[in-house]
Amino acid sequence: MLKLGIIGTNWITDQFIEAANVTKRWQLTTVFSRTTQRAQEYSSKFHAQEFFTDINEFFSNGVFDAVYIASPNSLHYQYARQAIENDKHVIVEKPAFTNPDEFSQIEALLQAHPKVRLVEAARHVHTPLFAQVKQQVNDMDQVQGATLTYMKYSSRYDQVLAGKTPNVFSLEFAGGALQDLGVYPVYSAVALFGEPNSVVYFPTLIATKADGKGVAILRYDDFEVTLNFGKTSNSHLVSEIYGLKDTLVMDNPADLTDAVYYDADQQAHKLSAPVEANDMVPELRDFAALLEQPNDKEQLKKYQEWFDLSRQVNSLLDTLRQSAGIEFPSDNR
Ligand SMILES: NC(=O)c1ccc[n+]([C@@H]2O[C@H](COP(=O)([O-])OP(=O)(O)OC[C@H]3O[C@@H](n4cnc5c(N)ncnc54)[C@H](OP(=O)(O)O)[C@@H]3O)[C@@H](O)[C@H]2O)c1
Repeated sequence: MLKLGIIGTNWITDQFIEAANVTKRWQLTTVFSRTTQRAQEYSSKFHAQEFFTDINEFFSNGVFDAVYIASPNSLHYQYARQAIENDKHVIVEKPAFTNPDEFSQIEALLQAHPKVRLVEAARHVHTPLFAQVKQQVNDMDQVQGATLTYMKYSSRYDQVLAGKTPNVFSLEFAGGALQDLGVYPVYSAVALFGEPNSVVYFPTLIATKADGKGVAILRYDDFEVTLNFGKTSNSHLVSEIYGLKDTLVMDNPADLTDAVYYDADQQAHKLSAPVEANDMVPELRDFAALLEQPNDKEQLKKYQEWFDLSRQVNSLLDTLRQSAGIEFPSDNR
């Protein structure tokens, strides 16, 4: 069993641990929380063996192989740095890092610690159904564009309306709609079509000065991809990839449970792949295989692909933000 440490004790960590338990390949051993009460509460809820409230002790004395970092975005970098320096593998929540400078510093540190692996928890691109979508896109004779939509009203927007600044809508914590939900369609676009030639982001800014929703346009050689995402409204639109007479329709680019290919004669072909009730299970299986077989060529190839994708998404998020003039304090530009 792979031993797991966690940072961040919100609901997403609950879901992550539950997914880890489904795989039967991970065991939660170590919890970090900022307060003793929360650390105690959380470790007893999930039967962890130890907990820490001091981050240095967590990394130097904690007995675990990999750490899952689910803190506010702006803190991913410093926790990942410390993990790598202590030779712990890293599973970092999306968006992995807030700008390319942070990403390249992490990459350099990984080169100095060649046994350590770092993966980004982009859950949707690890699902078997996403692999089917990718295969179908590759099989299409021509792609003429796509519209990918992911818009869910966040209960934390109620707090913004009440005059507060929750982390997810705070520039200080590298929040906003692009970083939080936009990252999913950005990931899908790069995984399916590669890096665009140019991009532009039109955000709707909210009271915290972060983006609450927005539209991004990605230009490729022969087509455009439109991304429509946000946290201040709900959308029930499907997402589509356009061929010539054929179309691929997905219920959602992030919470993908249904995908149908309409061929040139408009006949529907449902893409079939197992869909897990907990959509973090596939990534946890993938990451377990990587760490269980550290020298396996196939695993190393996948790792390189995930890492390259993560770097491309990091760079694209940064370019999109710059096109909209959204700066985070951590950018230091
Ligand atoms: N994959 C997914 O589907 C998914 C879904 C939701 C979120 N996420 C990602 O998960 C990460 C966490 O998101 P979240 O919404 O859960 O964030 P959050 O509620 O703001 O914070 C997460 C945890 O970090 C700790 N924390 C909070 N404020 C902090 C601060 N000022 N300094 C240090 N630690 C702090 C808290 O744990 P303690 O009190 O125990 O220290 C908290 O439980 C983000 O990167 C987000 O993008 C991913």
